[in-house]
Amino acid sequence: MEQKDEKNCNSEEEGERQGPKTFLGIFTREKFIILCVVIGLMALLLIIILTSVFLITQSDASVNMEMEPFPSDGDMLDFLLQIGEIQEKDGLYATWYHAANNKSEMNKALNSDVMILEADINVKGYNTANETNIAIMAHPPDIYSDNTLEEWLDAVLKSKKGIKLDFKSINAVELSLDLLRVKKQTGINRPVWINADILPGPNVPVFWPVINASEFFELIQLKFPDVTISPGWKVLYLSIFPNVTYTRSMVEEMYTIVRHLPQKITFPVHALMAKNGWPHLSWLLSQSPRFSLTLWQGKENPTVNDLLFIRDNSNPLRIYYDIYEPVLSKFKEAAKLRNRPRRFYPGGDIIDYFRPVNNDGLNIQWDTVTDKDDLLYLLKDSQGGMLVIPVISSEGQPNIPIIQGSKPELPLQDCLELILASKKSWGIYLRIKSQNQLSLTLELLRQAYDRDLLHHPTWVNMDIAHGTFYIQDYVTGEEFLRTIDQIFPYVTLAPGWPKEVLDEGYKPELVEDMVQLFQGAWQDVSLQLHAETLYRTVTGCRSLLHAQSRFSMTLEHRAEDRDLNTWTASLMAIRALNRQRSFYNMPNMYREHIANLPENQDHTALTKTLQNDS
Ligand SMILES: *[C@@H]1O[C@H](CO)[C@@H](O)[C@H](O)[C@H]1NC(C)=O
Ligand SMILES: *[C@@H]1O[C@H](CO)[C@@H](O)[C@H](O)[C@H]1NC(C)=O
Ligand SMILES: *[C@@H]1O[C@H](CO)[C@@H](O)[C@H](O)[C@H]1NC(C)=O
Ligand SMILES: *[C@@H]1O[C@H](CO)[C@@H](O)[C@H](O)[C@H]1NC(C)=O
Repeated sequence: MEQKDEKNCNSEEEGERQGPKTFLGIFTREKFIILCVVIGLMALLLIIILTSVFLITQSDASVNMEMEPFPSDGDMLDFLLQIGEIQEKDGLYATWYHAANNKSEMNKALNSDVMILEADINVKGYNTANETNIAIMAHPPDIYSDNTLEEWLDAVLKSKKGIKLDFKSINAVELSLDLLRVKKQTGINRPVWINADILPGPNVPVFWPVINASEFFELIQLKFPDVTISPGWKVLYLSIFPNVTYTRSMVEEMYTIVRHLPQKITFPVHALMAKNGWPHLSWLLSQSPRFSLTLWQGKENPTVNDLLFIRDNSNPLRIYYDIYEPVLSKFKEAAKLRNRPRRFYPGGDIIDYFRPVNNDGLNIQWDTVTDKDDLLYLLKDSQGGMLVIPVISSEGQPNIPIIQGSKPELPLQDCLELILASKKSWGIYLRIKSQNQLSLTLELLRQAYDRDLLHHPTWVNMDIAHGTFYIQDYVTGEEFLRTIDQIFPYVTLAPGWPKEVLDEGYKPELVEDMVQLFQGAWQDVSLQLHAETLYRTVTGCRSLLHAQSRFSMTLEHRAEDRDLNTWTASLMAIRALNRQRSFYNMPNMYREHIANLPENQDHTALTKTLQNDS
């Protein structure tokens, strides 16, 4: 608008000037003075317009420069929300620009609508005779760049973009942190993430050079601790080994190194390895609310389904997706679809899956499958819940697992297919009687999982023998664990004690041996208790409550068992301690009965005493 006015003024002015020149001879003195005044006024107007245009442009620039205060160790999503880039706190909406290193890439990134710039830092002339102590923006093998970190920061700090700096050599770290400290004086006002690969990861031999973690962390604490740390594993994705992923020990090693750091931590994870590694990665996430994951990719694209799997099993605040187009857009579209079936991790928590009222395990329904008609009825009429499936061998063919008591025999495979085809929420609880059935059942689960059909919480129950409850003819605890780990480990382990050892209830030594056996398992564990045996459990109650800090408990009661008056303080103590970690495998009428029991003071007192003891 203003520019247009300015042009008009100019042309008018030129027209007037031409006037007097051409007709100077015939103008009177007065007319000439008036003309001069008019010209003078026009010139003044022009100056005013130009000045105001200039001022407006200037103030626009200063609006860009001026960022609201934001701590550089603050949460990235809080920042993006504050500057209005995202409308809700969800890592799905954060966007990334890769390798915004040299000036042209950096400017491209700055002029794009991407929210966070990721750039690589090296030392100028690194590892040559010409090595300097200047931090430059370059990805190895590049050791020269038209952009130093200082220039990069000067440019990026004028924008509203978040910052992720990826260190490719330890030599660059101190230089860069010093620079950040200087820049802090004039205001960084956005989150700064500091990334380095500090451990060998999938497909990378242990001798592969990585950034020395202790030096890296020490420099951060010393020079510039106000950052989010992004400590990663060096990873090689090889399409010929598509199943290689992060192992339990890689994740535990990482946890050991970072657990004492005070900063927020986001672990970079290769997107193609995230689903297979999920049991371990989710364990890592659960260790601290300060932890998040950033999925990243190389040349190969992850599948939308694998990304949905991660999304469906995690808190949206705790996963970032540094994924390329077009997969990213497809993924976002799919993620936002309503009523999309959830791709639940079968080893996941049933409270998370069923979301029962008050997060109370008592509000999850349990039903036992007896035959095909019964199953079809349940699938149609029930709202969903845990399906207890007792598995035995077919009479004629011992290698075909079937549902116990079904006539005609209902093969487990058919049973599973009916359940997996249902759109309701079902948990699968497999009650397995023999070791042979265990392998066959796990094989069926593995097949369903590989066909991308098994998105249900899946529990594997067996009565097992171990230590003080070693009874011949029961599968040993070690064998149970080994078979599951070998064939299909993505389950919740649901071990029970042989009934032969329960004459005096759940004695402390029985509980302690069970806890010791499953201590090292990485899966969720739910100890299976017979409600009717609990009344005999006086001495063991404390051990059970201690065990509950590590494992959940499932109380089972069958219609044919002893009647309800025998519910005991032990049961109520277990229930009172943690309602998200006690489950009730029993007909509805018993669950209702428990729900209606008054919160007896004595029980609460007992629970308190036991808690205080621990
Ligand atoms: C900057 O980096 C991009 C991407 O690596 C590259 O294609 C381009 O040639 C580089 N430009 C200069 C001037 O180095
Ligand atoms: C070091 O710099 C000199 C002068 O710029 C150059 O001639 C030489 O090739 C460089 N050496 C290395 C190892 O890059
Ligand atoms: C890392 O650096 C520290 C201190 O410089 C050193 O003691 C340690 O051995 C290094 N660790 C590795 C794995 O190189
Ligand atoms: C990877 O896992 C899938 C699914 O379990 C399996 O079908 C495939 O054979 C495995 N591939 C390799 C190379 O091990």
